[in-house]
Amino acid sequence: MNNQNIISIEGLKKHFLTSGGRFTAINGMDLNIVSAEFTGIVGPSGSGKTTLLNIIGSLDSPSEGKVVVLGKSIGELNVKQAALLRRSQLGFIFQSYNLLPVYTVFENVEFPLLLMNLTDNQRKKMVMDSLEWLGLTDKVKSKPSQLSGGESQRVAIARAMVKKPQIILADEPTANLDAANSHNIIKTMVKLNEEFGTTFIFATHDDKVIGYLKRKIILLDGKIASDETIRK
Ligand SMILES: Nc1ncnc2c1ncn2[C@@H]1O[C@H](COP(=O)(O)OP(=O)(O)O)[C@@H](O)[C@H]1O
Ligand SMILES: [Mg+2]
Repeated sequence: MNNQNIISIEGLKKHFLTSGGRFTAINGMDLNIVSAEFTGIVGPSGSGKTTLLNIIGSLDSPSEGKVVVLGKSIGELNVKQAALLRRSQLGFIFQSYNLLPVYTVFENVEFPLLLMNLTDNQRKKMVMDSLEWLGLTDKVKSKPSQLSGGESQRVAIARAMVKKPQIILADEPTANLDAANSHNIIKTMVKLNEEFGTTFIFATHDDKVIGYLKRKIILLDGKIASDETIRK
């Protein structure tokens, strides 16, 4: 799918019904993303970053307009089709890591593979490859409570990449990390992007992260205020 839009957004609006009436979180957006981009959605709190990522990730649907991800029109997918798209093609990284506390590191990374048709050995190899890539082989048996923030986020990256998804969506992945770990995490994502061609889209307002972006989209009040490709 190289050089083709893997995400195309046209006239997107997202309204939420609140006690105070209708609130428009995304207010008219057009955006195309091609394969292997490393794009940051930058903007202040409340500008619509999470809402946009949720729609691209088929966790929510557009109120108006069209959002096509890997050939699938998000607003037209039923619950099962949306789950299949997420499971087969998308990886997610969250600000708060979202690791399952009762499971080991190995089991957390294995989790997205459980619904796939794989043998135990295939699964084990994929999990170990992913953990090795992230330098976490000595943490295989640890529980999330025994990990630092940086390690937890690396486990979350291992979990997001284990099935080699085409697209990884990351919502403020460095918001809970100190400077050293933020740099480490973003460098890991750049490496993943360059080594495997994984398309990254992430929301951030972290200045430390912004310098690594290859494309920077600034969101203000649910609209794109600027869209800049950064040449390195
Ligand atoms: N489920 C919801 N119901 C009502 N309002 C929402 C909902 N989700 C988000 N919003 C509102 O939409 C706006 C954008 O939110 P969000 O996408 O989370 O912004 P960001 O991630 O940039 O901080 C905010 O004003 C928020 O309060
Ligand atoms: Mg947010």
